[in-house]
Amino acid sequence: MKKIAVLTSGGDAPGMNAAIRAVVRTAIFHGVEVIGVRRGYDGLMDGDFMPMDAASVSDIIQRGGTVLKTSRSVRFKTQEGILAAKQKVKDAGIEGMVLIGGDGTFKGAKEFSELSGVHSMGVPGTIDNDLFGTDFTIGYDTAINTVIEAVDKIRDTASSHHRLFFVEVMGRDTGFIALNCGIAAGAEDILIPESKTNIDEVVKRIDAGIKRNKSSFIIIVAEGDVPGGAYEIAKQVTEKCSYFESRVTVIGHMQRGGNPSASDRILASRLGVAATEGLLNGRKNEMAGLINNQIVFTPFSQTRKHLVDINEGLLNMAHMLGS
Ligand code: F6P
Repeated sequence: MKKIAVLTSGGDAPGMNAAIRAVVRTAIFHGVEVIGVRRGYDGLMDGDFMPMDAASVSDIIQRGGTVLKTSRSVRFKTQEGILAAKQKVKDAGIEGMVLIGGDGTFKGAKEFSELSGVHSMGVPGTIDNDLFGTDFTIGYDTAINTVIEAVDKIRDTASSHHRLFFVEVMGRDTGFIALNCGIAAGAEDILIPESKTNIDEVVKRIDAGIKRNKSSFIIIVAEGDVPGGAYEIAKQVTEKCSYFESRVTVIGHMQRGGNPSASDRILASRLGVAATEGLLNGRKNEMAGLINNQIVFTPFSQTRKHLVDINEGLLNMAHMLGS
């Protein structure tokens, strides 16, 4: 291969820039040209390309977001969109791609490779940690640290006022962020989509805490929890337990921002190198991941989030420790 492209797609995640840097510098080390694609798949269809050299990725390892920008492309889901991208890729002489993103990114890549014959390798970049084939995704560590910093602050005001707080965190339809932030912040309860939420049980746990004179309650609610987000849960809980004043905090997109943690920078560097060298060595349509500190490659077709299981033992542990 003489020329490859790199792009970021889907929701941005802290550490994506470290991954871009690793891809660019690895390719250049191996004598391969790199094209940066701006705005993810939208930029691929529009030919929004820029040549990247070693200097173009200086001073970005520590920055959140993605210098290449990103998109959630609707157009790329159509055959017309994929054919437009195929033409732009052919015109630019791009022979392979490294894609940094999540489940939707890899699904698009598989279809693109079937229709265009141009193959890709993936790097897992999402704060949700919801991909099969890696212990952690890039951005997750930073995001959970951002959340616990916020929850620690909420705890100060919650205990000063004797209040019950429902704190909603991201994760789309999975509860990895909620579960581990709940454990790390010492939350009294954690509500996640992978485990059926029973409002009476939540109330029972609050009652037990009141009996032992707890001065505040933090309930972490994953945005995808089935009865609804934090506002809906708060409504249902407070209908049955009104003796504690309650408030709702939705942490929102601040979870996606900020300088990446050391772990995310290291993970992004290792996986960026692995995906790029994999591509140059003839691998195709696989995501590079890290399991038990070893690089592993998983076909795009198997990285889908529903294959990932939440650790139920951790939820039980969190209930025991938060009671
Ligand atoms: O996938 C990352 C994520 O932040 C999810 O946790 C969240 O549900 C979603 O993206 C929000 O997407 P958007 O930024 O498009 O609103």
